[in-house]
Amino acid sequence: TEQIPTIYKGLAGVVVDTTAISKVVPETNSLTYRGYAVQDLAANCSFEEVAHLLWYGELPTPEQLELLCLRERAARRADRSLLSLLTKMPDNCHPMDVVRTAISYLGAEDPAEDDNSEKANLAKALRMTAVLPTIVAADFRRRRGQDPIAPQSDLGFAENFLNMCFGAVPEPAIVKAFEVSLILYAEHSFNASTFAARVVTSTLSDIYSAVTAAIGTLKGPLHGGANEAVMHDMLEIDDPDRAEAWMSEKLAAKEKVMGFGHRVYKNGDSRVPTMKQALLDVAAATDGEKWVQMYEILEKTMVSATGIKPNLDFPTGPAYFLMGFDVEMFTPIFVMSRITGWTAHIIEQGQSNALIRPLSQYSGVPQRTVVA
Ligand code: SDX
Repeated sequence: TEQIPTIYKGLAGVVVDTTAISKVVPETNSLTYRGYAVQDLAANCSFEEVAHLLWYGELPTPEQLELLCLRERAARRADRSLLSLLTKMPDNCHPMDVVRTAISYLGAEDPAEDDNSEKANLAKALRMTAVLPTIVAADFRRRRGQDPIAPQSDLGFAENFLNMCFGAVPEPAIVKAFEVSLILYAEHSFNASTFAARVVTSTLSDIYSAVTAAIGTLKGPLHGGANEAVMHDMLEIDDPDRAEAWMSEKLAAKEKVMGFGHRVYKNGDSRVPTMKQALLDVAAATDGEKWVQMYEILEKTMVSATGIKPNLDFPTGPAYFLMGFDVEMFTPIFVMSRITGWTAHIIEQGQSNALIRPLSQYSGVPQRTVVA
């Protein structure tokens, strides 16, 4: 008789490779990027500094930061053909479809698409990171019937994006909270989208293809799409007085509640305390008390019934809503940040590549003969 191997459904608990990019320690609810705690990075660094850390392994010196910022700012403009592609996307498609298509198009446009050298990939990673906010902001405004706002090279990454969306840089508390969210979203070891990017890279395919696959993977509500789902739920509840009953009904019906639970953290997501503070700061600046109340009630009801804690998407949902973004923009914003982690992993995969090709246990009908 055939021996059935152990099957690790969803690769749960399986260690598939090493990485020097980030370390998640579920037992102590901690997360480091290249050895630095994320809370430290969120408190002390700009998103550009964190991008440098992820790509090059070290926080930048002032000269390195200046160079990175110069190059990033110079690469923000979307060329005419890309902007015209955006205008051809169906009005009612999800903004993640736009982002996915745009990255795929950037690959098609790049004559050096198949140069997978580390140097070329670092340059492409920077270019994609620089132009994504321009694409996301243009799409946001298009859906509101507004003309795009050109990127501004005297603004930092976060400020420039907010300006391209809203036509003004919001107050510092909002900019800081937004930047904190970008830093927290930037990297998280072998999550599903990063793993998808590494699978594509392992075939020696190009970085644009890997990022395109990662975007498609992030879109799902069990992964990055959860930040949108959280806000759709909160808008449906609408009144904090209804939050407890809403949660109890969901749990009684054995439905998954978006923004709660995590494959790796079973005792709380290491990034939530930092992002919750950012949400409180945004709420204080925007009269958002109602959403904070709802947050607290939903969390309390879930934790006391099941012990399951919120993940990062739970505070980012209402924080982005209060900043003025349309709900469908939340996951594209996640992409704008996570592209730094994805591309760092794509480069790392290339440094010690092995084709990723697991095995499966056949469970279909036994072998049979074709009857002509
Ligand atoms: C991200 O991996 C990463 O690092 C991802 C991420 C990153 O930075 O890249 O952190 C970003 O994707 C955050 C996660 C966003 N997704 C959601 O918020 C969707 C809702 N959450 C879940 O569906 C769930 O918790 C997952 C998908 C996040 C994790 O799922 P697992 O590890 O496969 O766990 P499971 O679904 O098997 O749940 C185990 C138990 C089950 O109960 P039992 O069957 O054992 O009785 O916990 C229950 C689940 O029903 N459970 C939930 C729940 N999450 C887990 N019950 C209700 N609501 C939930 N959200």
